[in-house]
Amino acid sequence: MSTTLTEIPLTDAELKLLQTLVYQECGMYFDERRTHFLRDRLQRRIKVCELDSFYSYYRLLTSREGKKELTALLENLTVNETSFFRIRPQLELFQKVVLEELLKRKQERRDWSIRIWSAGCSTGQEPYTLAILVCDALAYYYLRNPLPFDMPTPKPLIPPPWKVEIIASDINYSALLTAQQGVYTEAQMETVDYTCRLRYFDKVGDKYAVKPALKSLVQFDFHNLKTEYLPQRNDAIFCRNVMIYFDEAEQKRLIEKFHRCLNPDGYLFVGHAESLFGLTTRFHMIHQHNATVYQRIEGAQ
Ligand SMILES: C[S@@+](CC[C@H](N)C(=O)[O-])C[C@H]1O[C@@H](n2cnc3c(N)ncnc32)[C@H](O)[C@@H]1O
Repeated sequence: MSTTLTEIPLTDAELKLLQTLVYQECGMYFDERRTHFLRDRLQRRIKVCELDSFYSYYRLLTSREGKKELTALLENLTVNETSFFRIRPQLELFQKVVLEELLKRKQERRDWSIRIWSAGCSTGQEPYTLAILVCDALAYYYLRNPLPFDMPTPKPLIPPPWKVEIIASDINYSALLTAQQGVYTEAQMETVDYTCRLRYFDKVGDKYAVKPALKSLVQFDFHNLKTEYLPQRNDAIFCRNVMIYFDEAEQKRLIEKFHRCLNPDGYLFVGHAESLFGLTTRFHMIHQHNATVYQRIEGAQ
């Protein structure tokens, strides 16, 4: 039987209602180019719920009993594509320029904390990559600038008195669960070189599990970027390949929130195909290593 025969008709008015609901809930905007995707996912969910019209589905989503279904719908609408060491030039800029500057500045002030937020972390490859980069950067920094006291043995991943926190958040609970498990297939590990695998992963059967010491640096949490309650006091925020699904108004609101969520002189990384151009005057752009990062401007209106 062809699926078109079993499809429940969706009127333009119903589509608009659902489009608006999704936008209000999570900021994702489905313009004409992406309505076919929205229609397809809605058709799937309405069948799962065994309903016979989109209006009744809308009524379910907006009811008290519909909270679970709304979560399921949003999970079905998010694109969770990600990988370890995604967009290397940006990560090189992070490690060689941003972290180097942060470590120096913080050490001078005797502030031994580093807090990085991966906003829209999907299945965890991004925050674990960031944790690896921070560990390596700290080790290399102290190779060149030895600490004035003996390092404990065995050498900890994070040399004391430093404290590193990687906050990793997403709106998709299933993705967060996978991230928290931290177990990846050979295919998912394709972009992780063997020295990195040896240092930061354990082989479990035919998969790779993130070593507990690295895992302990990353805290996973549910956060909807549409809301105001978001992790504060970050030295850097990575929000890559998320804003691309938002419209301009929502992007502007999110950038304002990121400005508030950053420490003074903090850094914001967006996706390779994303830019803050024309959206804000509160950040200045740094372009090095063939990549871009935005730094918070203090006192900017
Ligand atoms: C394409 S993935 C990007 C993953 C990773 N940042 C990267 O670049 O590899 C986009 C992620 O953003 C999440 N997302 C979309 N809308 C969100 C929202 N309103 N709040 C939090 N996360 C959101 C999705 O669930 C998805 O996991």
